[in-house]
Amino acid sequence: MGALMMHVCLVAALGAYLCTAAPVLGGLQVFVTPIVSVRRGHTTTLPCWLNPPESAEGLEVRWFRPDQFDSPIMFYQKKKFQDSSQKASYVGRVSFGLKDAASGGLTTGDLSLKLENAMIEDAGDYTCYVSSDQGYDRASASLIVTEMGTSPLLSAEWKEDHMVNLSCESVGWYPEPSLRWSDQKQVLTPESLKNSKDSSGLLSVHSWLLVSSSTEVSCTVGVSNEESKEARVHLENHPQPEFIQSSSSSVAGWVAFALLLIAMLVLLGVLCYKKERYMFHLR
Ligand SMILES: *[C@@H]1O[C@H](CO)[C@@H](O)[C@H](O)[C@H]1NC(C)=O
Repeated sequence: MGALMMHVCLVAALGAYLCTAAPVLGGLQVFVTPIVSVRRGHTTTLPCWLNPPESAEGLEVRWFRPDQFDSPIMFYQKKKFQDSSQKASYVGRVSFGLKDAASGGLTTGDLSLKLENAMIEDAGDYTCYVSSDQGYDRASASLIVTEMGTSPLLSAEWKEDHMVNLSCESVGWYPEPSLRWSDQKQVLTPESLKNSKDSSGLLSVHSWLLVSSSTEVSCTVGVSNEESKEARVHLENHPQPEFIQSSSSSVAGWVAFALLLIAMLVLLGVLCYKKERYMFHLR
């Protein structure tokens, strides 16, 4: 500890800038994991710890959102949680967590924030702030809250000249999803790509493009590579189903007409033959 203080003093002696930037929490520094990602509704831990490791039981630990120092989401002081000024939306959802399985918790300087039932509104910056009568230090981390949307829904509308209007839609994402079209060979550029927000704050995406029939096209929607969903369609080079139906029914009509015609000719032939025989018989 004495050696550390001396180190800080030596650093401070190097210049005024370093002096103001130097940690002043009795030689302790606060570290965080800068970016943490969690699925909506799940539990996560924002790691924050003292280095060198030292018990934080006697320190004041405050976790707060930007510009909300006075209404912290968690405030630990005099070995107790101070709930009176706690931000309402976090009540019952926060506690000290462990930065990893090997952590010894608060007594080894682990100040991590455990957050349960993550909500879309929880996304953003968090500051881990520690103070003692020797000074303070702080570090900030970003929380990303994600939500997986529905599998993309593909629909096709046959146009003239063997073109197909393919549309792809997916709802219920957070943050804003990206949408990518491709065929077997390359990425395709859509005619239209629109994002929208629903009442619960989740985001949707809709896109359409014109492709020639007889291709295999896929639509991928996601917020990252790990969290994406794909739909694929193989378009056959034939006209739209309605047209097939009407053409096949007219073919059936022609066949029925031809059969009827043949039957009538046969009948007529038989009648003529019989009549001829009858007349021959009379003679
Ligand atoms: C393609 O379909 C979308 C609806 O999914 C529609 O808004 C758009 O106007 C259509 N485009 C053409 C060229 O038919």
